[in-house]
Amino acid sequence: MTKISGFSKLTKIEKIEWVCKYYLQNQKNAKSILEQYWNDNNKLQKLHDEFAENTVSNYYLPFGLAPNFTIDDKVYCIPMAIEESSVVAAASKAAKFWGNKGGFKTEVINTTKVGQVHFTCKTDYKTLQDVFENHKSQFFEEAKSITKNMEKRGGGIRDIAIIDKTSDLDNYYQLHCHFETVDAMGANFINSCLEQFGKTLEKIAHDLEVEVLMCILSNYVPECLVRAEVSCAIDELGTNGDEAKNFARRFKQAVDIANVEPFRAVTHNKGIMNGIDAVVLATGNDFRAVEAGVHAYAAKDGHYKSLTHVDIDSNNFKFWIEVPIAVGTVGGLTSLHPLVKIALSILGNPSAKQLMRIVAVAGLAQNFGAVNSLVTDGIQKGHMKMHLLNILNQFDASGKEKAEAIEYFKTHSATHNAVVDFINRIRS
Ligand code: MEV
Repeated sequence: MTKISGFSKLTKIEKIEWVCKYYLQNQKNAKSILEQYWNDNNKLQKLHDEFAENTVSNYYLPFGLAPNFTIDDKVYCIPMAIEESSVVAAASKAAKFWGNKGGFKTEVINTTKVGQVHFTCKTDYKTLQDVFENHKSQFFEEAKSITKNMEKRGGGIRDIAIIDKTSDLDNYYQLHCHFETVDAMGANFINSCLEQFGKTLEKIAHDLEVEVLMCILSNYVPECLVRAEVSCAIDELGTNGDEAKNFARRFKQAVDIANVEPFRAVTHNKGIMNGIDAVVLATGNDFRAVEAGVHAYAAKDGHYKSLTHVDIDSNNFKFWIEVPIAVGTVGGLTSLHPLVKIALSILGNPSAKQLMRIVAVAGLAQNFGAVNSLVTDGIQKGHMKMHLLNILNQFDASGKEKAEAIEYFKTHSATHNAVVDFINRIRS
């Protein structure tokens, strides 16, 4: 393995040749794969190249659609970018199931985002606090050139508070700030405001031995919260009363377990994120930010819990999710990436609030699908069926072989070994 200096200065072809020469076995094949996924449209390819550094190809994922979602009485077809089999199918199935039971109901609880200036100060808190309170308006004024446009759209800085953190760390204080960023995810806006706050702070507190360390948004956004819910009469959950009651009871028990048992909760929430991430990614949003914020929220009570909840009263079944989702529908990739633009168009060019609702619904639907399978047939039945094609493709199965395998595995369990045995058998 070889090191190089000045890699970023190489042309794309030179970068590819370098990585093929020093890191890849079958150089010819590797080069042709990397080149195959360049876009023929030079302008578009240049755009992709400018999203990130040192690009040598385009990485692709399946882009699927889950139709028939009724959300707040409006029908949506939800685009999902995901490689995992069963996810889009489970979402579509849940959409259909709940579509004729009133659909999904949602509520955006709040949209507040958070950013912090982390700093140290050697002077006592009382003096620092007085200086801050006396100059608070200066923070807003000196950030005016940054906030002007956001304010025109109804957003801006909502609040700046000073917080004494010295019981956690010597001399440590924060400016803890709240923002409204309307339809933008708002990372650049928030970080620019915070850097300005840092400068203002250093100015007003110059003789208090203040040292600004970091100015950065927080991806923990417990107040940027959305709720999505489905409900129906218990009888509607099965083909007869006993089956329906049994399903409701087992479903609730499964969710209750995820509420008290972290090992199960992590997997339970991972299934929710299958839906959430796929929509976040398809709509050009930062799925790492959403993941980080969601998992922190799941642990907000001191132990990691389920993001979904079930309530059963006399004859009613209610299933809901409450999650922090900080997403945008303007800025970033939203007007640049061709598939992101299509995804947003399919969703009717939603506002950020609408997208929050859609994302939460995708998470709830996914969890319904997963827990439904787990407490009835088990996960492998549906999973392996979808996975069958992946295994067959690994063996370069022909159309005829695939058809035979699909027929055979209708009545046999499609484990990996069973599929491999089957392929070997029909080939020998
Ligand atoms: C797999 O990607 C997701 C599940 O494990 C979720 C769950 O167990 O609830 C099926």
